[in-house]
Amino acid sequence: MTLVICKPDAVARGLVGEILGRLERRGLELVRAELRSIDAGAAAAHYAEHQGKAFYESLISHITSGPALLAVVGGPAATWQVVRQMMGATNPAEAAPGTIRGDLALSMTENLIHGSDSAVSAQREIALFFPELADVPQP
Ligand code: RTP
Ligand code: MG
Repeated sequence: MTLVICKPDAVARGLVGEILGRLERRGLELVRAELRSIDAGAAAAHYAEHQGKAFYESLISHITSGPALLAVVGGPAATWQVVRQMMGATNPAEAAPGTIRGDLALSMTENLIHGSDSAVSAQREIALFFPELADVPQP
């Protein structure tokens, strides 16, 4: 399982269905999905690895700017990798056509989607936002 966040820009632009639809059509399973505003504390915990970087303030400001769609997605052992491939490069201007960012975004900050970047990150992020799933064994 991996954590997906349709960021506030995705919700504001009405692209949640498009994004989750792509994941579902690929064959991934929706395990949890909830529209939720991420508060400053959760945002800081989630993006702790980026603390101190030049883009940190804009990153936190955006992710806390409005409701986001948080989801846990299940699939094969490397679900996080499948989702990352479907997301495309962090900078949408460099993301390949056919990816979510490559087809639907242009802004580095408003890049629509977060996906865990490793199995360890997935476990940590799922536990942070969906603690009831923390002890579910990962494939
Ligand atoms: P995310 O964590 O949101 O899924 O995105 P990611 O793994 O593709 O990229 P990451 O390196 O984790 O960066 C997190 C978010 O910070 C913004 N960012 N800006 N150089 C920059 O200006 C810069 N680098 C990263 C992006 O919004 C990115 O999604
Ligand atoms: Mg990341």
